[in-house]
Amino acid sequence: MDMTNFTFSNPTRLLFGVGRIQEIGKEIKKEGCKKILLVAGGGSIKKNGVYDTVATSLRENGIQWIELWGVVPNPVLSKVMEGIRMAKDNDIDGVLAVGGGSTIDTAKAVASGIYLDDVWASFLGKEKIEKALPLFVVLTISATGSESNGNFVITNEETKQKLGNYSPLVYPKVSIVDPSAQQTLPWNQTANGACDALAHIMESYFTGVGNETTLFVDEALMKAIIDATDKLLINQKDIEARSNLAWAATLALNGVSASQLKGDWASHDIEHAISALYPDVAHGAGLAVVFPAWITFVWKENEPTFRRWAKNVWDTDDVLVAVERMKTTFTRWDLPVSLKALSISKDAIPSIAAKATEVGKPGTVKKLSTEDVAKILEIAY
Ligand code: NZQ
Ligand code: ZN
Repeated sequence: MDMTNFTFSNPTRLLFGVGRIQEIGKEIKKEGCKKILLVAGGGSIKKNGVYDTVATSLRENGIQWIELWGVVPNPVLSKVMEGIRMAKDNDIDGVLAVGGGSTIDTAKAVASGIYLDDVWASFLGKEKIEKALPLFVVLTISATGSESNGNFVITNEETKQKLGNYSPLVYPKVSIVDPSAQQTLPWNQTANGACDALAHIMESYFTGVGNETTLFVDEALMKAIIDATDKLLINQKDIEARSNLAWAATLALNGVSASQLKGDWASHDIEHAISALYPDVAHGAGLAVVFPAWITFVWKENEPTFRRWAKNVWDTDDVLVAVERMKTTFTRWDLPVSLKALSISKDAIPSIAAKATEVGKPGTVKKLSTEDVAKILEIAY
């Protein structure tokens, strides 16, 4: 039994449910903020009415704001720098992200980066985050769990590095999750999000041995995600399924699913290397390619837990059959399950493997060398 000691703390106040976005202004006012930076992506929130609801609520509560638009999926450092400049020039006292993980992560980097000499240095562990502006979130896609955690991932376009960062100071003060705001998602984004949430649970789950409470919770969450996504495949307006997927995705990376467990995160490190080099690859789609191959490569390192996963989630005694069932599920959701399907050539494998191991060997179930990562990518090809 591997009872890793752990601390559970999640300071984010989460407001969940249909119609709750209009509460954002009141919540920001309660925290004492008067002039905020609103961070947003490519414009989906203008089309689906979320922006109008937010703007009305801010206005009604006397909150002033300026806007940073144009955050792209796999968000970039230059946009963070632009946000930091805007925040400094305009005496901002809070940051509001309206969007998905990319928007939230950019907002976290701005909220902490405003107090740093060099925000990228904090990603390299060379500068410590000691302070951050209060952060607020209106979530529009369930995937990353960024609405209720201290993680943020940014790509430095110059060095082509996509790195994660963490600070307890960037947990959102308040996050609003209104599943109805996700009804305008294109199908592939819903599927990417579901795959990402599943991956977050698996990254922790497979490092468990005998941690019954968390392993059972994690199996239930994985089944809830698969069930809700299959229902959305039939009817994307199914609000009950949207709600279940949204809540499961938050629980997948807010500390609950990882409690008692060490965590592995090699599949994420490999995916981040792929989307650093190929920014058009969505994070969830990259994970659909990498995760099955990673399991195939490492499962004998912690056989009992992989077998338990096969049985309790995929209803088979055979781990490799379970992997095939997961791939079939991803394919049904129209996700890619091979590098080839991402239009990445076999020749690129060494460079991806080198990128994934640039800052150290990923993984804990098995610590992966550059050659190991290359072998996983061969399996994924
Ligand atoms: O930019 P807009 O126009 O808003 O469109 C977005 C974007 O194109 C669209 N979208 C979002 N909500 C919508 C919508 N379209 C219609 N209706 C809506 N309601 O969806 C697209 C994807 O958005 P994005 O924010 O990129 O998605 P996601 O939440 O999956 O975030 C992915 C990023 O988060 C990182 C990933 O690596 C990637 O960079 N991660 C962050 C983590 C964290 N902070 O904890 C952990 C994860 O493992 C992950 O690494
Ligand atoms: Zn992820």
